[in-house]
Amino acid sequence: MDEIKRITELRKELNEHNHRYYVLSDPTISDMDYDMLMKELEALEAKHPEMHDPLSPTQRVGSDINTSFEQVAHIYPMLSLGNTYSIDDVNDWIKRTKTALSGEQFTIVGEMKYDGTSISLIYEHGRLVRAVTRGDGTRGDVVTDNVKTIKSIPLELQGSGWPDMFELRGEILLPWKEFERINAERAFNEEPLFANPRNAASGTIKLLNPAEVAKRNLDAYFYYLLSDNLPYDNHYDNMMAVKSWGFKVSDIMTCLHSIDEVDEFINHWDTARKELPVATDGLVFKVNSLRQQLNLGFTAKSPRWAIAYKFQAERALTQLDFVSFEVGRMGIVTPVANLNPVLLSGTIVKRASLHNEDIIRTLDIHEHDMLYVEKGGEIIPKITGVDTGSRQPGSMSIKFVTHCPACGTPLRRIEGEAAWMCPNKYGCPPQIAGRVEHYVGRRMMNIDGIGEETAQLLYNTGLVTNIGELYDLTREKLLCLERFGEKSADRILQGLKDSLNVTFDRVVYALSIPYVGETVAKKLARAAGDIDTLMSMSAEQLAAIEDIGPRIAESITEYFATPINREIVERLRQAGVQMSMPEESTEGKTDKLGGKSFVISGVFTHHSRDQYKAMIENNGGKNVGSISKKTDYILAGENMGPAKLEKAQKLGIPIIDEDTFLKMIE
Ligand code: IVH
Repeated sequence: MDEIKRITELRKELNEHNHRYYVLSDPTISDMDYDMLMKELEALEAKHPEMHDPLSPTQRVGSDINTSFEQVAHIYPMLSLGNTYSIDDVNDWIKRTKTALSGEQFTIVGEMKYDGTSISLIYEHGRLVRAVTRGDGTRGDVVTDNVKTIKSIPLELQGSGWPDMFELRGEILLPWKEFERINAERAFNEEPLFANPRNAASGTIKLLNPAEVAKRNLDAYFYYLLSDNLPYDNHYDNMMAVKSWGFKVSDIMTCLHSIDEVDEFINHWDTARKELPVATDGLVFKVNSLRQQLNLGFTAKSPRWAIAYKFQAERALTQLDFVSFEVGRMGIVTPVANLNPVLLSGTIVKRASLHNEDIIRTLDIHEHDMLYVEKGGEIIPKITGVDTGSRQPGSMSIKFVTHCPACGTPLRRIEGEAAWMCPNKYGCPPQIAGRVEHYVGRRMMNIDGIGEETAQLLYNTGLVTNIGELYDLTREKLLCLERFGEKSADRILQGLKDSLNVTFDRVVYALSIPYVGETVAKKLARAAGDIDTLMSMSAEQLAAIEDIGPRIAESITEYFATPINREIVERLRQAGVQMSMPEESTEGKTDKLGGKSFVISGVFTHHSRDQYKAMIENNGGKNVGSISKKTDYILAGENMGPAKLEKAQKLGIPIIDEDTFLKMIE
């Protein structure tokens, strides 16, 4: 292919992958494939200097900037590392380094390459002042509040000997155990799963609510200390000092003195890393002496004094049996590769999601192809490639279905997305049965005795064709069902009766309004107060509620504009299902704060921020978001932001601490 054309194509492709990886936290290719594309582009650009473009993907480190955080410039830019998948390349790097150091002896530090999201911490006088994400390498997002929730990061240092000012770089990680726990919880709530701990960690650190971050139990390992005033003249001793100040520095970090020792380190950790509690994607080798590091210097993108060796993702080759198309509760059609069973990282893989049509097309999968399946830290195996060499002649390429495999309705492509959906919401069996199943689920109406099978059975027999009809079930009707005894019938009837006490927010969640998950449902129920208000709200009014975007708002108005949904709501109301939030009790309410307005800032010890907010409201005060002339008090915890402090002092607004506040409302 024309090389110039290939450059343009690679740039476009890499830009797309960058966006998926850094912005959406939802990559569609493996790191190795990404690195291969990048290397190909680097080589072509070197060959064609006339094609230089400062905006090429080779000229930057991917950006993860999210506009809702304050951004700052890094004191020292956050660079990446040169990387390779081969031991030979590492050995060549050692030889090159030796030459560059004019044959001088040097020690190499071998360490783990942790696969999370990188973070830069700034400490002044032994206290954490700021935590910044990598961003585009030059500027990053300030995520201090979120980072403070990571228990293994010391907010005040232990020991002694730290510089007055330093920057510490490391990796924020979600340990495997936590990753599995959170995904199990998400599966239970029917929320999308995290593909791997890295996405989970980078998604978590950018959550706008630090309390949610705290629940995720992140961890962090540190590997690079920067300061004008470092305690030692070599990396290893500096890292041991960092460890003594209370940070997590991996015990795996080792000083190595020869090519043989480096190779042995690689061979050992290639397998031993599987036993570690956190995800790793390789090893990093660094020249130990800071003087030698300085001598070696940097290229535009990475230090010459370090190299990353990346592990091969675990991969297997197996034959595609057939592709099935499955319809979910929301009508989305997902292609699934059904495979000849194959052993991969200790589990037998029979099925792998192909996600959407674009992926089938990009991979160009044909019938009975031999497919590469990868499980690089992911729980759900991924198809990452096709062995085209072994393709059977004349085999047809896989075509995405044009009609719903369940009800035959022509599929529609969701605007702006790669997904196809069946629009026959109210006539497509798996969608209807799926909604019944959702409605009775534990986090929704918690109706005992109806699981996936029974929901399907109720639908197939025509007894329940929508969630409203659940309340038409009688003992006689249930007893007609196959394998249904009096006991199971009574259990369901009791479950239906108990569901009349379920609070309105869970009812909203149980309705299966597209895009309305548990949290959104709670916010909607609280903001609207009752179903009639909710049904009459315009998209603009809905979008004004916290965390409700225009897309969710539109989905809600569309849902309630559909006659069948209004009928269902009426049927549920008649049955006695809760259609409003309980009246707020006036118990425990006072007017001690007499309408005074408060701004809350910092971290508190006695109660959480949310609890203080509630106390202010319950005592007749008002919470406001930002400081203005009209603010009456600042309720300040520890580490109040310097900008806020300055503004408050300038306007002469009294700053009170927790204890003073608690006395005010005593
Ligand atoms: S050193 C100037 N050491 O890998 C070099 N990086 O591709 C600073 N990483 O952005 C990085 N483990 O997020 C270094 N032991 C380790 C690492 C490590 C993981 C990440 C880090 C960095 C990326 C470079």
